[in-house]
Amino acid sequence: MFLTNSEEKALAGEKGESLEIAYRVLIAIGKISNAKRLIPIKWAHVSGVSYLTIGDYGMDFLKKISSGKGTKFKVFTTVNPCGMDIENWDSLNVPVDYAEKQLKIISCYEKLGIANSFTCVPFQSFKVPRKGTSVAWAESSAAIYANSILGLKTNRESAVSALASALTGKTVYSDLHIPENRKPMKNIRIDMEGKRLFRKSGLSGSVDFGILGYFAGKHISGVIGFQRINQELEIAEAKALCAAIVTTGSSGMFVLNSKERIETIDFTEKEYEDTFSDLSQSGEGEAIVFGCPQMTIEELYELSRSLNGKHLRKRCFVFCSSKIYEIARSRGYSAVIEAAGGTFVRDACADFTPLISTLNVDSVETDSCKGAHYMRKVHGVKIALKDTTRIIEENSK
Ligand code: F3S
Repeated sequence: MFLTNSEEKALAGEKGESLEIAYRVLIAIGKISNAKRLIPIKWAHVSGVSYLTIGDYGMDFLKKISSGKGTKFKVFTTVNPCGMDIENWDSLNVPVDYAEKQLKIISCYEKLGIANSFTCVPFQSFKVPRKGTSVAWAESSAAIYANSILGLKTNRESAVSALASALTGKTVYSDLHIPENRKPMKNIRIDMEGKRLFRKSGLSGSVDFGILGYFAGKHISGVIGFQRINQELEIAEAKALCAAIVTTGSSGMFVLNSKERIETIDFTEKEYEDTFSDLSQSGEGEAIVFGCPQMTIEELYELSRSLNGKHLRKRCFVFCSSKIYEIARSRGYSAVIEAAGGTFVRDACADFTPLISTLNVDSVETDSCKGAHYMRKVHGVKIALKDTTRIIEENSK
C-alpha cells in the first residue's frame, strides 16, 4: 500500500501514539481489502458512543486515544447517539454508575473535537457535501443512506475505523469508494399486485419499507438493486429501508429502479407476510417507542399533527437528537407531543439504552423494523410492529 512521507512518519509514531494507532488501523484494513492508498475525507461519523455497546474496554480505549497531547480530530466529525438522555438521564431511571461512565465517554469525544451531534441521522442536522464526496461513516443505517440517497461515498465503517478516519482525515480507497463497485449485484423485484396499488411498488410507509429492507438485507450482501421503486421515497421511508437492510446483512448501498440484467429475487405478499411475522410477535405493546433511527423534523411534524388534542394511554418515548428537538420546540411540535403524554429522549439510541429494561414491560409497540429486531434481542421484549398512525389511533383518546 502506498503511503506518503507524512503518513509513514505518523505510522512510525513520530506524530504521537494516537495517530500511530489510527494509521495502523487504516493500514490493516487496507491490506485486507487490497487497497492501494488512502484518500482524504470530508466528514467522519463515529459510532461506539453508548456505554451499553462499548463497555469498559471501549471507554478505556477512548481515554487512551484522547489523552494524547494535542490529539484532535482532523476533519468534521459527528457521533452516534449515546446510551441515555444527557440532560435528563436521572429522571429516566438511568443508574448513576452507568451515567458516570457514559459521561466519561462523551467527555473523551468532546476532547477530540466532535460537533454537537449524538445522532444516527447526521444528514438531517448538518450540511451534506456535494455528491461523489468521500466520507467515513460508521453508523451502518446512515452509511447506506449516504451512498444510496445522498450520493456520497463511504464504506460501512466500524467504530474503530471511523475513529481512525476522524483522527487522520483519511480512509482506505476500497469497496464503495470505487465507482465500479457501486453497481447492483442482485435485484429485488417487488410484486405486491393486489395488495396496495397506489404506488407502482405497492408499498407505503416506514413499516412497509422496513419489511422490504429486512428481507433484502438477508438475501443480498453486496449492492442491492430495487426494481419498481423510483425516487419517490419519503425521507421516513428511505430511512426505514436503510436501517432495516443493515440490520440483517452487510450491504452498504442500494440502487433504486435498477435496470441491471442480473439475478433477481422476488418480494411478493408471501415474503412480506413471512418477514412481518418474524418481526412482530404481539398484537399490542405495553409501551411505545418511536425513533430508530432517531426521528427527523418531518416525522416530528407528522407525529405532532396526529397527536394534536389527543392523550396517549401508554408511555410513549420519542427519540431524537437535541438539535432536532430544539427545532421541534421552536416550531411548537414538541409541546403538542408532550401535551399528549409523549416523553422525549434526546441524544440517545432507542435500542442500546437501559431505558427499555428499566420500564419492566414485556412488550413494546414500534414502527421500526430495526428497533423491533434489537429491542427484542437486547431487552427480551415482544414487539408489536405497526405504522405510527395505527399506533396512535389504537392508543389515544
Ligand atoms: Fe439509531 Fe440506535 Fe436505531 S443508533 S438506528 S436509534 S439502533
